[in-house]
Amino acid sequence: MTRREWSERWRALASVDLMAGSEGESRMVDRWAALARKLDEPGDQRADPVLDFVLERLTPDMTVLDIGAGVGRWTVPLAARARSVTAVEPVEGMRVALTARLARLGVANVATVSDGWMEADVAPHDVAVAAYSMYTSLDIVAFARKMDAAATRFCGMAMRVPAANGVIGELAGHILGDWHDSPNFVVGYNALLEAGMTPNVFVEPVAARHWTDPSLDDAVARARRHLRLTGNEHDTYIRATLERRLEPTAEGYRWPDWMRAALVWWEPTGI
Ligand SMILES: C[S@@+](CC[C@H](N)C(=O)[O-])C[C@H]1O[C@@H](n2cnc3c(N)ncnc32)[C@H](O)[C@@H]1O
Repeated sequence: MTRREWSERWRALASVDLMAGSEGESRMVDRWAALARKLDEPGDQRADPVLDFVLERLTPDMTVLDIGAGVGRWTVPLAARARSVTAVEPVEGMRVALTARLARLGVANVATVSDGWMEADVAPHDVAVAAYSMYTSLDIVAFARKMDAAATRFCGMAMRVPAANGVIGELAGHILGDWHDSPNFVVGYNALLEAGMTPNVFVEPVAARHWTDPSLDDAVARARRHLRLTGNEHDTYIRATLERRLEPTAEGYRWPDWMRAALVWWEPTGI
């Protein structure tokens, strides 16, 4: 074990391929616009305890950096609580959908920055948050340190918490040789600890959102997507594992894997 084992592990899992739009931005633009519109449909908001944790810490005088804003799932509620928000979003199509959404909603206190976080040149804000946008950055410690330098009162990074008994983990362990198939909270938090940071953690209290696929074929396709497998040479093993582990329900095949999040947060100190 090296002194920077977790940082190295993060680096191996993180990839610019995870950048939204890497599969062809023009094809994605309509999808992002539709996603942005869907966010504002009545009744479509799902609870987000991690976002609520951040909102509770905001006061109307604060300025906020939303790093990797996407179509503004966090940006819009942040802007409603704070004086202003700077939305950092490097993918152009995503920014177009975000800007259109802000105009539609009449939100006037958001500015956008078109660089990736490590390249962005921004003045210090009170608060810096990054929700699921660090997965494309090879150096999570540098990402966090830059956030620390850019905020005076609060920093927060939301990351996915994998289920310890998840099927994706079991498949990844067998096929890829690592239980972690992608960058996540376990790897990221350990990398920060290893670098001498000791941030706090808020873990979403309830993990009720499990994946359900209508058929076993859909479940195999999901597994391939997650493991980023391009061929079908592992399909027999994947299908046998899914048959053993997924629970057939009236709605389809239910995975034990959950969608759960953690917020790694700290008060900036010049780490
Ligand atoms: C999974 S989406 C999350 C969007 C939003 N934060 C949310 O929670 O709904 C990740 C976003 O981060 C952006 N992103 C990826 N790498 C980034 C980087 N290095 N700096 C800033 N944003 C980045 C992507 O373009 C994408 O819009």
